[in-house]
Amino acid sequence: MLDGKRVLLVVSGGIAAYKTPELVRRLKEKGARVRCVLTAGGAEFVTPLALAAVSEDKVYDKLFSLTDESEMGHIRLSREADVVLVAPATAHILAKMAAGLADDLATTALLATDKPILAAPAMNVRMWDNPATQHNIKTLVERGVGFIGPEEGDMACGEWGMGRMAEPDAIVAAVDEFFRQGRAQGAVRSAAAGRNLPLSGTRALVTSGPTYEAIDPVRYIANRSSGKQGHAIAGALARLGSQTTLVSGPSHQPDPPGVQVVRVESARDMLKACKGALPVDVAVCAAAVADWRAETVAKEKIKKSGKARTPQLKLVENPDVLAALSAPGNLRPRLVIGFAAGTENVVENAVAKRAAKGCDWMVANDVSPENGVLAGDSNTVHLITAGGVEDWPRLSKTAVAERLAARVAAALRAS
Ligand code: CTP
Repeated sequence: MLDGKRVLLVVSGGIAAYKTPELVRRLKEKGARVRCVLTAGGAEFVTPLALAAVSEDKVYDKLFSLTDESEMGHIRLSREADVVLVAPATAHILAKMAAGLADDLATTALLATDKPILAAPAMNVRMWDNPATQHNIKTLVERGVGFIGPEEGDMACGEWGMGRMAEPDAIVAAVDEFFRQGRAQGAVRSAAAGRNLPLSGTRALVTSGPTYEAIDPVRYIANRSSGKQGHAIAGALARLGSQTTLVSGPSHQPDPPGVQVVRVESARDMLKACKGALPVDVAVCAAAVADWRAETVAKEKIKKSGKARTPQLKLVENPDVLAALSAPGNLRPRLVIGFAAGTENVVENAVAKRAAKGCDWMVANDVSPENGVLAGDSNTVHLITAGGVEDWPRLSKTAVAERLAARVAAALRAS
């Protein structure tokens, strides 16, 4: 119940703002007192009059208003609330919040408040997926801002994907849950759990990035993996509701929101971290693990001067994370997926590799330099399962991740 709880609702400029009078009504039905702050963008989609009528209060929209400031300063406005709810939260207002900008009443109140903040994002799917937005969200999550949604579905712009604002009922349920649990982060999880997503109640493990194998304190063996595909898969599984751990080698990719990230360097560290994340329902090994490491790691930097001959590097094989996770046993995930990168006979090799490693599915991709897969943004893959080989069209790495996550959800439901 929201009896007597004071909600300061910040309405920013997205098409979903048209749903906010309904949101105010629903909050009030639960007993909340709602006061609205409307941005200039928000006022393009919903009128101050409509919000004033449903909230039965004045709507605040100007930072430099003599009457408003004399009656109710922005500091008081932001503090005379139990929670500040930003709905819809556009990519723009989230960026301003992350940067600490305060150039209108809404952002000034958000910066000045000492109360918890919840945000219900609403934007186009590409804006949502953009690393800038994801980075801002991560920053805000770290600062304790709770997120409600967004949801996947048809968008006003005609595209389909992640970015629709959660429905008013779901937002009210999440606000209610927030007051019960008293934690903004709790609201995020309860919102996800409450929506009964396709992977709710499951756990996932994803490996990503390269590994670094030390030669001496400054040199290492590595490869060109960017981590884009593995990070995208972890993000996609988490968005479908799976409690996801990402074990990543060194990568410049931002941490996907809602994913627990464990950073490692070497193959041996990666294996240890993966074992520590078990049990899981699904494991996806997208990391480009170095097959070999130096047999001995020099304690001091190896010097060129004074050496009679060029040092020889003796290599030994690294543990195979995918094969270890695929091995039969109580902790074997229900579904283990590997990646097989190749430059020739890609599918045949991947079929053989699936059998050799004991995993359930193999995603084969051609990493010939002309495809630009390793550092690029798109991927052409073939999915190899017990049922055969599927050729997927050339897709962005995000789209490959989303398609794979949807297939994982279907497979786990069926198993
Ligand atoms: N893998 C792993 N641990 C290793 C090596 C590979 O987990 N030490 C996983 C990768 O994450 C990927 C798959 O195994 O899922 C790739 O297998 P790998 O044998 O490394 O194949 P390629 O390097 O693609 O091929 P090659 O056999 O030619 O080395």
